Amino acid sequence: MKIFLDTADVGEIRRAADAGLIDGVTTNPSLMMKFGQGREPNDVFLEICGAVDGPVSAEVVAVEKDIMIEEGKRLASIHDNIVVKVPLTEDGLRACRALRAEGIRVNVTLCFSVSQALLAAKAGATYISPFVGRVDDISGEGMQLISQIRQTYDNYDLETEILTASIRHPLHAVEAMLIGSDCATMPPKVLYQLLKHPLTDIGLANFLEDWSKLGKEI
Ligand code: E4P
Repeated sequence: MKIFLDTADVGEIRRAADAGLIDGVTTNPSLMMKFGQGREPNDVFLEICGAVDGPVSAEVVAVEKDIMIEEGKRLASIHDNIVVKVPLTEDGLRACRALRAEGIRVNVTLCFSVSQALLAAKAGATYISPFVGRVDDISGEGMQLISQIRQTYDNYDLETEILTASIRHPLHAVEAMLIGSDCATMPPKVLYQLLKHPLTDIGLANFLEDWSKLGKEI
């Protein structure tokens, strides 16, 4: 499963990319507001693209198809790594189709149902982003949505990649792997929670203590 970092924090992106832990980055307008204050958005996107060798999702902010297409083209011209993110509305799907016809990769975001995911695939989406955490927030079962989309895409050999989004804790990521989500995007905190294991820490402390008793160097 490809792992994307869900942030516009360039420091965190460099930290994860330099360790080889991530395959790309996703941003959204809220993350840009949080981490890109006082800067030109294009400069932030360019810096992110320089920090990670993989797809970087940058979201349009128009709601009307033609303006979305213009914004999408502008975003795509920033760097080859840019994937244009459009919302899962009728205009968004029309913009998706038009951008794909120009060879621009598109991530269709704000997906909350399997029917929406099917329609995004028909519009040629490169990635579909179902938001599991936000489904859980309203007492739904976010991961069930991922299973349903996986089954539907497999039933009909649809090539759109499932990008599990709105991941809030490690179990979301682990379940996404087991279901066969193509990608998952997560905040840095969840990435490092996936890495940590208390038995690793305890085991390492024991090994180091025993080695120190040897009184030797390597
Ligand atoms: C996905 O691309 C979004 O940026 C993100 O995963 C949304 O997560 P949130 O629901 O925690 O805001």
